[in-house]
Amino acid sequence: MSNDTPNDKQPKQQHKTIEQAQAEGKYIRKVRSFVKREGRLTKAQARALDTLWDTMGLNHSDGMIDAKTLFGNDNPITLEIGFGMGKSLVAMAKAAPEINFIGIEVHRPGVGACLAEAEAEGVTNLKVYEHDAIEILADCIPKGTIDTVQLFFPDPWHKAKHHKRRIVKPEFIESIRGALKVDGVFHMATDWENYAECMLEDMKTAPGFNNLSETQDYVPRPDSRPLTKFENRGQNLGHGVWDLQFNKID
Ligand SMILES: C[S@@+](CC[C@H](N)C(=O)[O-])C[C@H]1O[C@@H](n2cnc3c(N)ncnc32)[C@H](O)[C@@H]1O
Repeated sequence: MSNDTPNDKQPKQQHKTIEQAQAEGKYIRKVRSFVKREGRLTKAQARALDTLWDTMGLNHSDGMIDAKTLFGNDNPITLEIGFGMGKSLVAMAKAAPEINFIGIEVHRPGVGACLAEAEAEGVTNLKVYEHDAIEILADCIPKGTIDTVQLFFPDPWHKAKHHKRRIVKPEFIESIRGALKVDGVFHMATDWENYAECMLEDMKTAPGFNNLSETQDYVPRPDSRPLTKFENRGQNLGHGVWDLQFNKID
């Protein structure tokens, strides 16, 4: 007969936290804001990834960046999350050589296209990650170092059951606040009205931000933001576009 007390018969809690479980090598399913599409690389994208990665690519495994060493100057930094094919990011970088740009995108063909476009346009003030922005913000961007964060046309995840995949949520907003300098700006744009309303609600309740909209909701599209591919498509379909800009107050 066993000497077990009733307490010994309780199932033992295996892991106290997700971090502890991960440290023990357990796979934890994360809700991600993207589904990895293994789109084919064109020859130009593959060549750009091969030849330009050493000068323009940044690796998650290298950990925290030192922007002054990376860019060789102290210029302000704009960080763009989910740049797609990178056309508008490259256009912005070309138009503002006095700003350093860092792009983050998970879609490999998009990263290749962005590098090829940057080379074609002679842009040198741009570096890119091919990785999940959530992990880059946590592991690679030192706190209080970014002047502007841009998030243009994030995947809207239309169905209510998929809203949990939307990248804009309180934890994400808090990590953006961490990355920004005081007075730095978080600029979002979407062509999905329900997402715009949720962004506005989440930003209103988030600590440490001030809405730059005179009407305390949306701002007109600033001239500095070129029309993106998704915006063009949305406009052709008759969609509206909502821009939101908040600055970090503490
Ligand atoms: C709808 S597209 C918009 C692309 C571009 N900003 C534009 O307006 O044309 C959203 C992009 O965000 C990227 N994305 C989604 N979640 C991401 C994440 N966690 N980290 C990096 N990129 C992400 C997707 O791969 C996709 O290219």
